[in-house]
Amino acid sequence: MASASQSSLLAGRRILVTGAARGLGFAFARTLCENGARVALADLREELLQQSVATLRAEGFEVTGIAVDVSDPASIRRCAEQAVVNLGGLDGLVNNAAVTDSGGRGMDDIEIAKWDQVMNVNVRGTWLMTRACRPALRASGRGAIVNLASDTAMWGAPNLLAYVASKGAVIAMTHSLARELGPDNITVNAIAPGLVLVEATQYVPGRGTVNTSTSAPCSASRCPRTCRGPCCMCCPIWPGLSPVRFLPSTAASSCVKRNFKGIHTMSDLSEQQQLPKSWDQPEGASFTSWMESRVARFSTRKYDFDALKFQADFDPKYRRGQMRYIGTGGTGVAADSSTIPAENFTFSTMVIPAGHEGPSHLHVDVEEVFFLIRGKLKLVLEKDGKRFETILTDHDVVSVPPGVYREEINIGDEDADVCVMLGAKKPITPTYPAEHPLAKIKR
Ligand SMILES: NC(=O)c1ccc[n+]([C@@H]2O[C@H](COP(=O)([O-])OP(=O)(O)OC[C@H]3O[C@@H](n4cnc5c(N)ncnc54)[C@H](O)[C@@H]3O)[C@@H](O)[C@H]2O)c1
Repeated sequence: MASASQSSLLAGRRILVTGAARGLGFAFARTLCENGARVALADLREELLQQSVATLRAEGFEVTGIAVDVSDPASIRRCAEQAVVNLGGLDGLVNNAAVTDSGGRGMDDIEIAKWDQVMNVNVRGTWLMTRACRPALRASGRGAIVNLASDTAMWGAPNLLAYVASKGAVIAMTHSLARELGPDNITVNAIAPGLVLVEATQYVPGRGTVNTSTSAPCSASRCPRTCRGPCCMCCPIWPGLSPVRFLPSTAASSCVKRNFKGIHTMSDLSEQQQLPKSWDQPEGASFTSWMESRVARFSTRKYDFDALKFQADFDPKYRRGQMRYIGTGGTGVAADSSTIPAENFTFSTMVIPAGHEGPSHLHVDVEEVFFLIRGKLKLVLEKDGKRFETILTDHDVVSVPPGVYREEINIGDEDADVCVMLGAKKPITPTYPAEHPLAKIKR
């Protein structure tokens, strides 16, 4: 079958998405496919599921459909087994299936049967599906689980008690499961969307006018697409990502805020666009002073050999100096206020003395660009056991993709001067290869 993938970020990944016949689950499934994954869509609504599977197949994606009732433990077991058979193993699970139609009643009026149904599907179903998939995820060696929570659990939406309680439980479970499954190299994350316009939320009062979590306008741009990035970004395991940790917010695209212990809440992209930006003209500032604030001069800064001192303390060959210009880079020197504030990338220069090296490390979320102003660097790039080596000399540049280890060794006789750009205001802290000696030291 022709592949319609638009990126290879998840190439080779085998992912099960529950509740994927429609709404967010379907959007997640499509995004995972677009990024190269093979996906099993599971849902209670069989007919709709088959239609959704047919839609994705017609788009050229490799997907299968599995009927499941996540309120039924036996059905969950069968679904997990079938997914493993269909996909030839399992690398990811998106626990998305949920009862989403329990709202509109005060706590006095909720029927006990409804309460139990919500809990059985949203909470017990998440637990049991995780349990059923665990052996296959463990066998994958890079298993990842994304649980669908909801921002309603963080601010306490009224007249939605069973659902809110269930999503609170999902958040709590995610914390525990992340620790419990860490030793199996399985990451567990949750994303907590705000109101997203799908079939299931058509009934929500004030939909389209008020975002109930922030009182900000909820525009049509808060569509399932808004949520797809985070799911896609949380779902894969990039090499080196610590399994017992929640992804920091930058992992989950710019439309996600980290505001509750690693649980990601969605915010409308249009809201983000309305937030003041660090590049905005400060109130009362003249054009000249505003523009002057956008200039960082060489004369007002010096090389900082302490930013990466923890590496040099371990082995002097790692001693390098950083000069920050835009943002504070990937070294986490957030205290440097002399830089031009960054919104979308960081820019610094680095001096690597002769014979010294930048140790192999990995960014999972951004490209890293090295522009060699002068010098001679051996560049080593590695991914999945494959190695590429080349020499960079004056004015050569490389843009290293996320997911590829990079190492720069100064093989010249003089200092190497390098410009370094990272594709985010604050990238996820990079990691070393598991067997690298620096992997054992704390920053
Ligand atoms: N849309 C939003 O505004 C929003 C906000 C926060 C969280 N969420 C969460 O996102 C997820 C998807 O929600 P949605 O908005 O797309 O709603 P939805 O109702 O369209 O999706 C839920 C899916 O789960 C399936 N499902 C329900 N019971 C099931 C069962 N017993 N077994 C198997 N499948 C079952 C449904 O058939 C449906 O396809 C849910 O976990 C929901 O709580 C959605």
